[in-house]
Amino acid sequence: MSARIVVTGKIPSAGLNALHDAGLSPITWDHEHQITRAELLEFVKGAEVLITLLTEKVDDELLDAAGSQLKGVCNVAVGYNNIDVAACTRRNVRVTNTPGVLTDATADIAFGLVLMVTRRLGEGERVIRSNQPWQWGMNFMLGVGIQNRQLGIIGMGAIGVATARRAKAFGMSIAYFSRSPIDKKIAEELNATQLSLDDLLASSDVVSVHCPSNDATHHLIGAAQFKMMKQTAFLINTARGPIVNEQQLVDALDAGEIAGAGLDVFEFEPKVNAGLLTRENVVLIPHLGSATQETRAAMATLAASNAIAISNSQKPPTPVN
Ligand code: DGY
Repeated sequence: MSARIVVTGKIPSAGLNALHDAGLSPITWDHEHQITRAELLEFVKGAEVLITLLTEKVDDELLDAAGSQLKGVCNVAVGYNNIDVAACTRRNVRVTNTPGVLTDATADIAFGLVLMVTRRLGEGERVIRSNQPWQWGMNFMLGVGIQNRQLGIIGMGAIGVATARRAKAFGMSIAYFSRSPIDKKIAEELNATQLSLDDLLASSDVVSVHCPSNDATHHLIGAAQFKMMKQTAFLINTARGPIVNEQQLVDALDAGEIAGAGLDVFEFEPKVNAGLLTRENVVLIPHLGSATQETRAAMATLAASNAIAISNSQKPPTPVN
């Protein structure tokens, strides 16, 4: 009998085909509605490998529900803050993610937000869509240029580097804050300056968040950090919502401590703080970082490769633990 591979939400057919080609018969949550917690706890029973989405919390309760035969949890995301990795490790359950395949898609969205918020593109679109009268004018809806401005990257992993490359092509200078050193060649290519977090916040015109979400980065950016930023600076977040204290972001915007924000992720996703919704100087998009057809297919395929390796008791291509 083939291993019980349970897929907790709809994933692109490329991933499912890879599983079938490997002789596995995945059981997929196929209903129109997203799986509820109660349904999830029931659905995972007896799974040998779980393929999970970032919307599913994998904790002791879920691992208990799955049962002791569980060998792996393969997240279809590079971020895995939805998974209690320590709990999985205690039970010898492998955790995997999907790094690499969504780097460009996410960097595109991060830089798209930079352009949107600095050039007031969302606001401009709202003017037209709401049938407000408008006329080209020398002083009409002026934004700020990004050339010769500093982009400060928090978390210089693959996505941070890819975002920096885009920014450099647009004439920005690059500073970064990273706990781990980056490749010397990349630092040279980008002419990137490593700064402390405080110095980066104080000197950057745009600050873009690209670090993982974990206990150490929870609310890394809050009231004190907004006060350090320039009043003309913009915050971009395409990483995870809880890295930024969302209420304190609203407070900082209200107080004019920063100039605006571009957000793809939210602290209490999918809820968005009401104080953000009415602001013109904030661009809000619904977690679209990896949302291209090609990227999602690649993520599903990589998650499937991880699941296949685990079910064959082999080392998966992209392990977390
Ligand atoms: C990820 O992979 O972590 C992204 O947030 C998914 O869009």
